[in-house]
Amino acid sequence: MLLADFIRDGAARLEKLYPSPEARGLVLMLCRELLGVTNYTHVVEPRTAVPEERLPELEAALARLCAGEPIQYVLGVAEFCDRRFVVGPGVLVPRPETELLVAEAVRTLQEMELDRAPRVLDLCTGSGCIAWSIALDIRDAEVIGVDVSETALDYARKQFPQGPSFIQADVLDTEQAFPYGPFDLVVSNPPYVLERERTQMRPNVLDWEPDLALFVPDDDPLRFYRAVARWAQRFLRPGGVGLVEINEALGPETAEVFRAAGFKNVRNLPDFYQKDRFVRFQTPDNQAINN
Ligand SMILES: C[S@@+](CC[C@H](N)C(=O)[O-])C[C@H]1O[C@@H](n2cnc3c(N)ncnc32)[C@H](O)[C@@H]1O
Repeated sequence: MLLADFIRDGAARLEKLYPSPEARGLVLMLCRELLGVTNYTHVVEPRTAVPEERLPELEAALARLCAGEPIQYVLGVAEFCDRRFVVGPGVLVPRPETELLVAEAVRTLQEMELDRAPRVLDLCTGSGCIAWSIALDIRDAEVIGVDVSETALDYARKQFPQGPSFIQADVLDTEQAFPYGPFDLVVSNPPYVLERERTQMRPNVLDWEPDLALFVPDDDPLRFYRAVARWAQRFLRPGGVGLVEINEALGPETAEVFRAAGFKNVRNLPDFYQKDRFVRFQTPDNQAINN
């Protein structure tokens, strides 16, 4: 089969689920990853054929895409902060906006100009994409990632050879013993999608990515932020910084959780589209909040 035909037919099949440019983009990505061709090989070398023996693998991958499975699960990898993370069913695919949180975290740690290794706590770590990116960008950083899901932690632990420690714990259990603090930075991208927002979500997310990673009850959408605030009260050092990703519809309310918990310099930070997407907060200098 000609590569050009596979791309044309594959894109046509995927158009039942995705807008046309996205459908084509997904097939091109499949071919790039599985065959090592470029996005334009089939144009500049139109006689290029898909090797016979690779066809079953490509067809199987295309069938998974047509069933709505995210391409990152099909390929087993997701790009994040210029690195490739292993992902699959049971762990959230890292999102581009979370790269902004990592950039802010790295900038914050650099600006601290510590004369020792910075210490970072990542709550709700999932694939470990935040924890690993910070650990690999700030070479001597000591990073601990926490998640309740053993499946997610299995992915987090195998991303790269050496780096963060990953610990299983329920972040909502805020008074548990945790003998690892204090930290200079607490980061978190917790579940924050409201149950009632399900209707606006696409099937490739809803049917495939774990509910545990996404949803919070409509009547208690800020539960994870209250929990993160409590972890930060207990384990952030005086002058330490917190950074959380948030639901864009709840910017002021989420910031208020951290103000009410006694943090200073609490502010919303925007994403690529100028929407409230993060909250940054700080422990008062000379004073841990441990009430
Ligand atoms: C939005 S995902 C974020 C994953 C990753 N940090 C990222 O940015 O891609 C939220 C994560 O919170 C975890 N989680 C859900 N409930 C939790 C709980 N009670 N305690 C700890 N982790 C929890 C999920 O397993 C999931 O990995």
